[in-house]
Amino acid sequence: MNYRGPGRVRIDHKPHPQILHPQDAIVRVTRSCICGSDLHLYNGNVPDTRVGMTFGHEFTGIVEEIGPEVQKLKVGDHVLVPFNIACGKCHFCKQGLFGNCHESNPQATAVGAIFGYSHTAGGYDGGQAEYVRVPYADVSPTVIPPGMDPDDAVLLTDVVPTGYQAAEMGGIQPGDTVVVFGAGPVGIIAAKSAWLFGAGRVIVLDHVEYRLEFVRNYAQCEAYNFKEMDDPVLFLKKTTDWMGADVCIDAVGAEAEGSALQTITGRKLLIQAGSATALQWAINSVKKGGIISIVGVYGPTANLVPIGNVVNKGLTIRANQTGVKRLLPRLIEHVQNGVLNPKAMITHRVPLEDVADAYHIFSEKLDNCIKPVLLPPSARG
Ligand SMILES: NC(=O)c1ccc[n+]([C@@H]2O[C@H](COP(=O)([O-])OP(=O)(O)OC[C@H]3O[C@@H](n4cnc5c(N)ncnc54)[C@H](O)[C@@H]3O)[C@@H](O)[C@H]2O)c1
Ligand SMILES: [Zn+2]
Ligand SMILES: [Zn+2]
Repeated sequence: MNYRGPGRVRIDHKPHPQILHPQDAIVRVTRSCICGSDLHLYNGNVPDTRVGMTFGHEFTGIVEEIGPEVQKLKVGDHVLVPFNIACGKCHFCKQGLFGNCHESNPQATAVGAIFGYSHTAGGYDGGQAEYVRVPYADVSPTVIPPGMDPDDAVLLTDVVPTGYQAAEMGGIQPGDTVVVFGAGPVGIIAAKSAWLFGAGRVIVLDHVEYRLEFVRNYAQCEAYNFKEMDDPVLFLKKTTDWMGADVCIDAVGAEAEGSALQTITGRKLLIQAGSATALQWAINSVKKGGIISIVGVYGPTANLVPIGNVVNKGLTIRANQTGVKRLLPRLIEHVQNGVLNPKAMITHRVPLEDVADAYHIFSEKLDNCIKPVLLPPSARG
């Protein structure tokens, strides 16, 4: 796919990617997903998203070619490729902070490198394509374990680890009340994972009814429509004996709805880095001394957030781009023994050629779409 400007993507032919560095591999894509993060690009909210860029940071594929220094991966391996491009050797990678690699992106002080995610995140073309160049091929790409469905594997490249890390960063204690803002794939997995960390009550807020219905069944949690509330913060206070939730998770990010001021300044005029409505609700509805975990993506510049309330309430805020590789061993186990069932979130299987339709359906939340997966011609038998 090829980005043409806000709200516009199309299919185009590009030159076949080449090995540019001895640690590169070229991968033939078998699955690639569209993510809520792609919507920030699609809507023109991420700085330095250039026309001509190929998006796609969630993909699986067959290794077609390897550079001379690649030792672990072999031609023919079917791999899942985490969304972070990580060197594996820098100060941050050594701590498992693969989302914060200091080597893979010239703009590394802003963010680690991400496939198909603007020049702010390194300018690498992504996986919503037939072939991708994968740098540092021995570091993050992971051979899909025998017997694992590629539909499960592709969701291990981002949304499953991200939802799980959201719950992990929440520092959930046994019995805690956890509120998850957003019932997209990331929020759905965060809600499911909150139980794994010992939550006693899990509440999800969104305004898209079919997603609320889905998360209620998938994560066995409470789920409410914030558009039916006068004030979501008051609603959450009331339902927690006026104490507030122990942990609030922002799984919405820059496209948040629910506040006219935030929407106009953050999504229409772009004078702040996206709409911070969910984050504001999280700060105001968490208990004093509570923890806010943010995985929703915002642009790098300032937002209208109630930072004074953060101080007065003594909050702990934790946030990051997910370090996928660190979590993979545990999550592969969770998928293999049935604790997590990622592929149940895939609602749409779309030929890569129809990528523009897939973006439209996913961004407008049409046709009960939770997660679309794109299938290139060679993966369609
Ligand atoms: N940190 C990371 O590493 C990482 C990785 C993947 C995704 N993300 C981010 O996580 C977020 C969610 O991703 P997704 O794929 O689930 O996206 P998505 O767009 O499918 O889901 C977001 C959901 O939030 C809902 N929503 C909108 N405003 C809301 C509000 N005020 N309160 C509650 N819900 C609201 C929407 O209706 C939608 O269902 C995005 O910001 C994405 O960029 C971060
Ligand atoms: Zn993603
Ligand atoms: Zn690194």
